[in-house]
Amino acid sequence: MTGQDSRSAPVTSSEPASTPSEDELRLFAFQVWSYKQGELVSLLIHLGTRLGLFAELRDGRPLDAAELAGRTGLDERWVLEWLRAMGAARLLEWGDSGLFALTPAGAAVLADGEGSLFFAAGAFGPPPDPAYVEDLAGAFRTGRGFPYDRRGPEGAHTTERMLGPWTRLALVPRILPALGGVVERLESGGAVADIGCGAGVALLALARAFPGSSFRGYDISRHAIERASQLIGESGLSNVELHQAGAEVLPDEPTFDLVLTLDCLHDMTRPEATAAAIRRSLKPDGTWLVKDIRCTAEPRDNLLNPMAALMYGFSITSCMASALSEPGGAGLGTLGLHPELLEEMTKRAGFTRFTIHDFDEPANLYYEVQP
Ligand SMILES: C[S@@+](CC[C@H](N)C(=O)[O-])C[C@H]1O[C@@H](n2cnc3c(N)ncnc32)[C@H](O)[C@@H]1O
Repeated sequence: MTGQDSRSAPVTSSEPASTPSEDELRLFAFQVWSYKQGELVSLLIHLGTRLGLFAELRDGRPLDAAELAGRTGLDERWVLEWLRAMGAARLLEWGDSGLFALTPAGAAVLADGEGSLFFAAGAFGPPPDPAYVEDLAGAFRTGRGFPYDRRGPEGAHTTERMLGPWTRLALVPRILPALGGVVERLESGGAVADIGCGAGVALLALARAFPGSSFRGYDISRHAIERASQLIGESGLSNVELHQAGAEVLPDEPTFDLVLTLDCLHDMTRPEATAAAIRRSLKPDGTWLVKDIRCTAEPRDNLLNPMAALMYGFSITSCMASALSEPGGAGLGTLGLHPELLEEMTKRAGFTRFTIHDFDEPANLYYEVQP
């Protein structure tokens, strides 16, 4: 993680409050307004994806509003304002002849959902509906959160769009080969479980790469499992089965060569119970692959991550809400499952080997866990 260490300013209760200077006020107000700007630019990124605007700009050729409107079948005046907004946000280059263009980096991050590990536009969904925000406010009063399905099908779709490109591009070629013997095992026909499988993107990538292996996906979300069924049905693959359930339904006897929990253990109300169920269902020489969020045992050290506020935002709106959706839920949240805690949890579940893999991804660490 990089970024400025914003932990340096000590907070003491003994110093008298001083009146802020006008410069301090201006600076702080700018900081706050820039979050409002981020909210609105986020919505415009969502519209740019949804309306096919970024897709038409993807090849980098400069376009004016009339041409972009013609290509997308949209109204020219609205397209012009969107282009100006994207230029002002420095996401498009705004030439002096009224032409706008995506740079190659812009195309990778905003338009290339299939080919770029840096694709980010998928994370920009529509704003939450007011009833959901009411529930969030209510959760602050009652302490009780809600599962991913509270956001309806859109929750599962946003997760798929946000995490899917990574899974399609990195899981098979980059991550699996780093795990001892796993690729060989799957090539010769293994059994795999993906717990918290979401829309089944990992299952699809694996089932295509290893047609001789069998795959089971588990998720408590009805919307995620419906979407996974749709994708798997469309793929024509016959080596994947799905269960709308958590790890409590895993077989009690050693069954799997590989179990995955990708970006979901910290979302669970009972991650300890999941770890224990995985231990029971894993073969003695099997592997549990955990992908979880890069974070630190001391919460303040997370401030070294320049995206920490984004992560805490995801936590309150999704991860911690999910992890507190049942009474007594662990409530770890997005930045709550640090390596030391996970190692302890795996030991308590009866695992003896724990290896951290750092693929230099800003948001994630990987763990290879074995009995
Ligand atoms: C951030 S999503 C990750 C989905 C998928 N693994 C991926 O990488 O795209 C977290 C998923 O965990 C699921 N989940 C939360 N608690 C669960 C539990 N106890 N058992 C199984 N799935 C759970 C949610 O429904 C959601 O689909």
